[in-house]
Order: sequence, then C-alpha cells, then structure tokens
Amino acid sequence: MLDLDPEKLPQHVAIIMDGNGRWAKRRGLPRFYGHREGVKTAKRIITKACEIPIPVLTLYAFSRENWNRPAREVAALMDLLRAYLREELPVMLEKGIRFRVIGERERFPEDIQALIRDCEEKTASGTRMTLVLALSYGGRAEIARAARLISQAVKAGDLEPEEVTPEVFRNYLYTADLPDPDLLIRTSGEQRISNFLLYQCAYTEFYFTPVLWPDFSEEEFLKALKEYQGRERRFGRV
Ligand code: FPP
Repeated sequence: MLDLDPEKLPQHVAIIMDGNGRWAKRRGLPRFYGHREGVKTAKRIITKACEIPIPVLTLYAFSRENWNRPAREVAALMDLLRAYLREELPVMLEKGIRFRVIGERERFPEDIQALIRDCEEKTASGTRMTLVLALSYGGRAEIARAARLISQAVKAGDLEPEEVTPEVFRNYLYTADLPDPDLLIRTSGEQRISNFLLYQCAYTEFYFTPVLWPDFSEEEFLKALKEYQGRERRFGRV
C-alpha cells in the first residue's frame, strides 16, 4: 500500500472522469454500460477520498458540451444521475459529506433539480468532505457568468470597477467558498483541460493516466496522490 504523507494532502482534488465510452466499446457493449460502470468507480473514489480524507473532491460528471451527445445517451446519463442522487443521499449523510453542484443546474429536468436541492440542503452540515458535482459545467461560461454578475453589481453601485481584482473576481465563481484544486486528475490518456475549472486551475498540478475511468481503482487514486506529494510547488516563486 502506498503511504501518504498526512502533512501534504491536497485540500482539493478535481477529476475529469474520461473513458467510459471506450471502456464499453472495447467490450463490444453500448456506451451506457461504460457510464454505469463509471458511476460505480465514482462511488469507490468518493468513499476513498472520504476515508483519507480529502477535504474537497470535484467530479466533472456532465459538461455543457455533453448536451450535444445523442439524445439517447443524454437520457441515459440523466437516469444515472437521478438514481445516483436518490440512492446516495443516505450514504452522504452517513459519511458526513456536504454535497454541492456547480454548473447550469437550471438546464436539468425539474425532478433532478429538486433532487439536487434536497441533497444540498440535507447535507449542508456535513464536515468530513465536500463533494462537488460539475453538471452542465463549462469554465468559460462560468467566467462569463462571473463577469455578468460583476457588471450588474457595478451598475447597481455596489462595486467600483477599480475594486475588481483577481481575489474579488473569484468571489463571483461557483466555487467562491472553496479552495482552488491542488491536483487535477484526468483518466483515459487525454492530456487537456477541456474547459474544466479554467480560472481555478492557475497553479494546479495535473496528473494524466491512460487508465479508463471505469478501471480507475483506489490504488490508482493513491498513486496519483503519491505523485502529487512528490511534486515541488513554487507558485511562481523560486
Ligand atoms: C466521459 O466518458 C464521461 C462522461 C461524459 C460522463 C461522466 C459520468 C460518469 C462517470 C458518471 C458519474 C456520474 C455520477 C452521477 C457520479 P466518455 O463517454 O467521454 O468516454 P469516451 O471518451 O471513451 O467516449
């Protein structure tokens, strides 16, 4: 087992869970099976993160671009999300998880929005770990939204243009109350950020692995954390 240095744990880990489709394809199965397996992996990694514990875990579960997938696949992902929110609320409560969603939640069917609200409200006092699901999320859209909110505040006379610093700007992001990710993991061999947490990842360490998301085990997760602990972070200093 890989020993982690408890002094150097990341405060926030973000994950791009990629490769479900390819996992299914390799087995001659429809893509849906890959997503279903992907949810199982997400549950295992959430449990592990909670045990360590990692204070904040953000999972990219659905991008703004994902709406453009075939209607059947979008519907299947909605069903998985619905089931996840229904089944996991008691688990989150038991583990002390505080649940949060970032992204355009208003684009989801009303019943899913209600499930999200319910999970957020009922888990609000969880202190062990914050689990953030990025849903209909896009980094550029988030930054544009922040700019919109700031313009409104300036127009209303609540904020002066000179006051808009990077620190103030971040208060208008979905993640205002969360630390920036220390570590971003992407599975399945793609080495890009794909519009995820663009503003927040300025100094984030990136970890790419060829392992497809359904095959991403607790051990692979620990391997990523171990590698992170070996990195020297300078934040632009010497
Ligand atoms: C990427 O695989 C994955 C997605 C677009 C969906 C991610 C969702 C899950 C893993 C389910 C987790 C959901 C919850 C509710 C926790 P892909 O389809 O892009 O794979 P490919 O690149 O191989 O085609």
